[in-house]
Parts: sequence; structure tokens; C-alpha cells
Amino acid sequence: MDLSPGQVAVVTGGASGIGLALVTAFARRGLTVVAADVERPDRLPPGDVVYRPLDVRVDAEVGALAGWVVAGYGRVDVVCANAGVVTPPALLWEQPAADWLWTTEVNLFGVVNTLRAFVPHLVAADRGHVVCTSSIVGLAPFPGGRNGAYAASKTAIVALCEVLREELDEVAPAVGVTVVCPGPVATRIRDAARNRPADRGESRPGTPPPPTVFDHGMSKVEPDEVARHVCAAIAAGRMYVLPNAGTAPHARARVERLLGEL
Ligand code: NAI
Repeated sequence: MDLSPGQVAVVTGGASGIGLALVTAFARRGLTVVAADVERPDRLPPGDVVYRPLDVRVDAEVGALAGWVVAGYGRVDVVCANAGVVTPPALLWEQPAADWLWTTEVNLFGVVNTLRAFVPHLVAADRGHVVCTSSIVGLAPFPGGRNGAYAASKTAIVALCEVLREELDEVAPAVGVTVVCPGPVATRIRDAARNRPADRGESRPGTPPPPTVFDHGMSKVEPDEVARHVCAAIAAGRMYVLPNAGTAPHARARVERLLGEL
């Protein structure tokens, strides 16, 4: 799909990091952009950009946002389910239940809520593009990652996107799907607890990861680089985006391990 002025994009988690970079990139291309987030951005990028408060965990809030967008603009073209959080590292049997719950309700149900609210509008129009932010750990958890809840939520997003692709092929094949699987990106994700609701308690760090945890030959990239890859994938109709150099061999090794046992 060509990104062009007059189109409308919605980005959850649009106030910071990768989401803010997507908002900026779409606005630069002349789109009207809705940055939806639980936190208010320090600044909005230049262009036709509005901020809307949104907690992606709350189905009714996401539904109301979709209604507001379609009533106000008469269309929605690009939907980015990007909001996400991470909790401190711990072996998965050490991770507090509250960490599992909060991670799952934001990272998985936040995406489900966004898809349920917006995809019907894309299907009705038989055009548009869905972008979901997973992670390289959604394709292959890396040794010592120490975050089973995060890996599970991000793996689920890859599965959701693959099911979505297949189902859209039946009813609205022109609607695109892209799943973004970044390695390390320079954002505020390690400070995700800033948005942790009081009723989700506090996290307890568990057994720390080995010092080699990030030593897998993956480059760290800036959020703008991720947004550049996403815009290219939308234009080309590509499904998988791995924006960090050095991550593809990691995913390939997992598939080869699997094939080796079949
Ligand atoms: P970030 O912390 O800079 O941005 C995340 C945004 O999500 C924040 O603006 C935050 O307020 C928002 N958010 C959190 N909970 C929310 C909720 N309940 N409702 C609405 N918005 C909410 O972090 P970053 O890195 O930009 O994260 C974006 C996505 O990228 C996340 O899904 C994350 O898991 C994913 N990711 C990040 C990587 C990294 O190294 N930074 C690597 C792989 C994936």
C-alpha cells in the first residue's frame, strides 16, 4: 500500500520510542496521525498529529477510539498495535503472577483489543494495513533472556498476525499485515514500570540474566530506523520486519533446530 496524504493512521503506544517514531514517519508522509497512549507525549511531531489518551488493556476504550476516528475522519488506513511493556528479568517460575498478568494484558490483550476494534473497518473498506509490534523473542527467545511472560506475549503476536493474514486472505485480501520483530531499540522500554497501574502491584527482580545475554551479534538501532523499515514493509506489502542486523540468523537457527527434529 502506498502511504499518502489524506490517509489516517492510528498508533498505540504512540507517545514514546518506536510508536513515536512511527507517528513521526507517517506525519512526515502527510498522513493524519492519532497517537494513542496511556502517557501524554512530551511533544508531538510536526504535521497533522493528535494525541488521544488510551489504555489498550481496556476493550471499551479501544472500541471508543476506533469509533472516534471513523466518525471524525471518515476512514482509517494504517493501524499500529505497538504499545508494550516489559518487567524485570526473572526465571519464569520466579516471575510474580502480577508481572504475568500485566505483561499479558498490555502486550497480548492490548493487541487483541486493537485488532477487534479496527480490523472490521479495514475489512469493510477492503483496504489498509495492520502493523503489530512483536520482538525478535517472538520468533526465537534468546538464551538467558529471563522473561518468559514477555517472550510468550510476543510469540503470541506473531501467531495472531499469521492467523490474521490467513483470515484476511479469505475476506479482504487487499488489507496488509506486518509484524515487526525488533532486537534492541534505544527507547524507554526498560522504564516500562512508569506506566504500571497500582493494582498490578510491584515487580520483584529475580535471578539476573547472564552477562552474555545481549551478546548474540545483534545491533542496537534507533526507533527511526524501525519506522523506516515499517514504512518500506507497508509499501512493499511485506509481512515480517526484522530491523536489527544480526537477528535473522537467530530466527533461522530456531527453525533449523525444529526441522532437525522432524
Ligand atoms: P517505550 O516505553 O518507549 O514505548 C512504549 C509505549 O507504550 C509508551 O509510550 C507507553 O506509555 C505505552 N504503553 C504502555 N502501556 C500502555 C497501555 N496500557 N496502553 C497504551 N499505551 C501503553 O518502548 P518501545 O521500545 O518504544 O516499545 C514499543 C513496542 O516495541 C513494545 O511493544 C515493545 O515490547 C516493543 N519492542 C521493543 C524493543 C526495544 O528494545 N525497545 C525490542 C523489541 C520489541
